[in-house]
Amino acid sequence: MDIKNGEIINLKQVDSTNSEAQRLLRKKKISTPLWIIADEQTSGKGRGEKKWISSKGNLFASLILPISFDIKNLPILSCAVSLATFECIKYFKKDDHFLKIKWPNDILFNDSKLSGILIENSLSTDLNYSIIGIGINVNSSPSKLDHSTSSLKSIIGEEIDLKPVLTQLSISLDKYLGKIESGELEDLVSEYTLKAWRLNEEVQFLAGKDSYIGTISSINKNFEIEININNKIKRFNSGELSFKY
Ligand code: BTN
Repeated sequence: MDIKNGEIINLKQVDSTNSEAQRLLRKKKISTPLWIIADEQTSGKGRGEKKWISSKGNLFASLILPISFDIKNLPILSCAVSLATFECIKYFKKDDHFLKIKWPNDILFNDSKLSGILIENSLSTDLNYSIIGIGINVNSSPSKLDHSTSSLKSIIGEEIDLKPVLTQLSISLDKYLGKIESGELEDLVSEYTLKAWRLNEEVQFLAGKDSYIGTISSINKNFEIEININNKIKRFNSGELSFKY
């Protein structure tokens, strides 16, 4: 899957690049990876019905990906995209000491959110697509959220052009999505585990309306998180819980 040479649709303003991708898919068949990027989003979408504040200077990008691998491996897509985004950020912030991936796919710098990913799938009998929406706080970070945020500019100390960020993201996505195609699924989860936030540490989280405290014990081969709560391991998939941090 050649993402590096994929077409790019560049918009000044849109509600959400993910929503624009969905509209485009309803209109026409897309057979090669296609990026939709926007300078700003008026209704940026986050995971779990949250908003993604999207003012100018940050990266808002959605990749329409015709799925060429077995859809039973779809949970690993989230793992691969997180690793690609992590690698892209590391290209700019060479020292990755404080960089972590908060399961399933937030990139944190020193516990402050630097990037978020929203993957929406469109599955049919004909062709399957994934819309991979990636937001990276490049030059600014929104404030007044329920968690702290950070930007590449604030951790590197200089303004960054968005073009090389998208180029690097495409290179890294090529690499990591290629690993799904070549069946290196367990390697992906192992690499992810090395970068996982608060592994073997106590966390507080919400699952539905219930609040829990437990210790993250592993990320398994299906990309579920396993948490030890009162000496019982509970497994969650990505839609099910949100951490307090
Ligand atoms: C999250 O952490 O809650 C996910 C945030 C995803 C934001 C990106 S920005 C580009 C794409 N378009 C959207 O509306 N959302 C995603």
